[in-house]
This record gives sequence, C-alpha cells and structure tokens, in this order.
Amino acid sequence: MPVRRYDSAVVDVAPLGQPLKFEFSGKVAKNRFYKASMAEDLASWSVENFEERGIPTKELIELYRIWGENEWGIIATGNIDIEFDMLDLVGDGIITPECPFSGPRFEAFQEMAKVSKANGSLIVAQVTHPGRQLAARIRKDTISASAIQHPPKNGAEYARPREATKEDIARVIDGFAHAAEYLDKAGFDGIQLHGAHGYLIAQFLSELSNQRTDEYGGSISSRLRLVSEIAREVKRRVRPDFIVGIKVNSVEFQEKGIKPAEARIMCETFQELEFDYVELSGGNHEEIGYGSKKETTLKREAYFLEFVRDIVPHLSRTKKFLTGGFRTTAAMVDALAILDGIGIARPAAQEPRLARDILSGKVTSAIRPVDGIVNDVMLSANTAGSQMAQIVRGQEPFDLSDEKAVESYKADLGTHFQKFAAANGSLEFHGFPELSSPNITSHPYGVPY
Ligand SMILES: Cc1cc2nc3c(=O)[nH]c(=O)nc-3n(C[C@H](O)[C@H](O)[C@H](O)COP(=O)(O)O)c2cc1C
Repeated sequence: MPVRRYDSAVVDVAPLGQPLKFEFSGKVAKNRFYKASMAEDLASWSVENFEERGIPTKELIELYRIWGENEWGIIATGNIDIEFDMLDLVGDGIITPECPFSGPRFEAFQEMAKVSKANGSLIVAQVTHPGRQLAARIRKDTISASAIQHPPKNGAEYARPREATKEDIARVIDGFAHAAEYLDKAGFDGIQLHGAHGYLIAQFLSELSNQRTDEYGGSISSRLRLVSEIAREVKRRVRPDFIVGIKVNSVEFQEKGIKPAEARIMCETFQELEFDYVELSGGNHEEIGYGSKKETTLKREAYFLEFVRDIVPHLSRTKKFLTGGFRTTAAMVDALAILDGIGIARPAAQEPRLARDILSGKVTSAIRPVDGIVNDVMLSANTAGSQMAQIVRGQEPFDLSDEKAVESYKADLGTHFQKFAAANGSLEFHGFPELSSPNITSHPYGVPY
C-alpha cells in the first residue's frame, strides 16, 4: 500500500526555495527549510566515566550526513549540553568548559559539521542547560532561577533545584560561550540558545519559575539578564560571521510566564543582542504543546501561528522561524507571508528527504501518520527517535501512515517501557524503542514503501 500524505492545495513552492540572508552574521541559508532540533540519543555514553559521554558517534554523524544531502537550508542539531551530568537526555552531545579544542571529541564535532555542510546546508548547534528539567535519575540536584522543583511527570522524577548563585550563573554563561567558541572552531555555522520548552533560559524568562529578588528576577528586563549576558559573551568569543539564534516559546508570550506587553521588550532585546533568528515554538515538560489537543489548534496546521502574529511585527532585523505542525506546502508557503523560515522536526525523521522532495515537486506534503499519533507527544517523540535510529542503520524509516506498522511499533514501545521499568533507574538503559518487525527492519534506506 502506498504511503498516505496530507492533502495540500497545489501551490508554487518557489518561495520555499528562496535564499535567506541573516542580517548580523551575513550567512546565507540556501532555502527556507529549517530542520528543527530533535534529541537523537546517538552520542557516546558511559555511566561511570563522564569524559566518555557526549561525543558524536559515527551513527550520529551519519544521520547528519543524510540530512546534509537532502536540501535543508538550515539543520539544527538536537540538544548539546554544557555539563557532563546536567543533560536533557542521555545520549545528547556534550561540550563543557573543560573540553579542549582538540582531541577525539573535537574531531567528532568537526566531522559532524563537515558532513552536514557538504551540500551547502548551514549547520547550527542547539545548546542547552536543563535546569530544573534535569531527570533525577541522572543527578539528584540541579540549579534553576528559583528553588521550585519540577513536579513528577509521565513517571519521571526531577532533580531538586537550588536558586542559582552568582558563581553558578557565571559557570552557565561560560558554558554556553565556551560551547559556542568550540563549535565555531569545529566548523559549525552557528549556535542556537535553547530558550524554549521550559529549560534553564526559559526558567529565567518566565516569572512562574523565576521568583528571584536580585537583578536576574522581577521585571522582564531583569528576567532577560541571563540570556543577554550569555549572548554577549558568546558574541565576544566567536567570529563575526557565526550565527547566533534562540528558540523561545510563542505561547508564553500570550498566556502565562511572559505577558503580551512584555513580548515587545523581549523582541527588542533579541534584536539589540543581534540574534540572527528567533525560532518560535511551544510547550515544556509540564505541558508539552507540540501536539495540541485543542480543536481550534488542530484545525490550524501550524500550532502556534496565532500567537506568532502578535510577535512578528516586533522583529524586523532578526529573522523569524516557526516550528510545530507544518505538513503541507500550501500552509508553509502561506506562513512565509509573515515568517522567514519553516521549522520541521518529526517529518524530517520520517522523511529525511522531505525538503528535497518538496522543492523538486515530487511531493506536496508530508506523510500523514495514522490518527492519534501526532497529538500523542510521547508516542510521536518515540517514533521519531526510533526512525532516526533506523536511518543510521541503513533502514527506511517505518511508515507512520501504515496501520500495521504502527501497531507493531506500539507493541515494541510497550516492551521498551517494560525494560525501562525493569532497569529501575539504571543509566545503562537508554535509547528509543527497538523495532522488531522484519518487514520494517529489512526495508533498505532510500527505497520508498
Ligand atoms: C524526538 C524528538 C526530539 C526533540 N528534541 C528537541 C530538542 O532537542 N530541542 C528542541 O528545541 N526541540 C526538540 N524537539 C521538538 C521539535 O524541535 C519541535 O519543536 C516539535 O517536534 C514540533 O515540531 P514538528 O510538529 O515539526 O515535529 C524534539 C522533538 C522530537 C519529536
């Protein structure tokens, strides 16, 4: 049975193929497709030896080689963490201030940049600190804007945060800046600060998690102080043509955390800091927003478009991307009326060739997963993770529009959760679910279903 795709009106896709020049770095993306960050869980891992964690493996490099050959204007990496034991996910890339600009880690990052850029894509590394979203199984204590612990969620317990001291803040700034310099030297085109999804930078930005009474808390200008200090130090250490961008939650501008009136100040600050781009997104660990259940939102293809309309007028020199829900060329081209680029995550795991296939006119939309997957964030994050693992094993990612393949995957996911429970918190167990169906695992990469 052929794959099922979303219906799309037939539109001229030429706007998606237009180059985009970043005003501050001067770098040019060859088109408007932005492969959004997806944590890959493919970097090296050792429970005992911190130094052996977070090095890009040949599998991780292979994944980026494949995206690199498929016409994504910009490829953003999954989270890269700045401490060996403060991770978003086991298997993330890691660069700490102690990591020198030489040796196996540096060479692996160099290789990752090289393969991503081989066909003219820009490669941007997303750099992250989890703050209070650190899983307690990785480490029991952490830092945050304030000592407000993240409630347990989906069976995950979170580390207990203390209010970050001035020394902690200095270490965080150094961590982001060192990672930026390291990645610049390794050949990356830029970095993106992860200021969305409830991670440390977002914890400082939102008054729900930032109740500090010092210069880092209170008014929006004070809550912006951490990200401003990080950005200035990053800029001081990298070459002028290095892209510096940020991912932020669009919804927080509206409903909670960051009030609408503060959005203007925030955007103005981002421009003053000379961010090349802002990627707007949504959700955090408490309420993951990139699979929306609200009916009004489901009707709209891009989940956060309604929020973005109020934000974009405040950004002119800083480019605007939106990620979350884009699936048809009609909606993508439409959105370019107010945005500069289209962020795409999960479909890039299902179809690493999607950008190329859209630009060549081969397809007009992404594969349409069977009902109930896209808005089940836990399920769809796992499917995307397993598909990324398939790609590096030379398999075509299994077809999410095929009921049988999805049923088989759900059984594999059940087995995965059982193994996770049996591991009882052991950090030896990590990764996305393994696929068991030979129909899927024997299907070679590049051969369509
Ligand atoms: C497996 C997986 C891992 C993700 N990891 C990250 C991440 O490391 N950093 C990030 O900012 N967003 C991450 N996201 C969120 C995506 O970047 C994106 O915002 C979200 O999937 C919505 O876009 P989509 O509808 O195009 O998938 C991840 C999503 C998935 C499915």
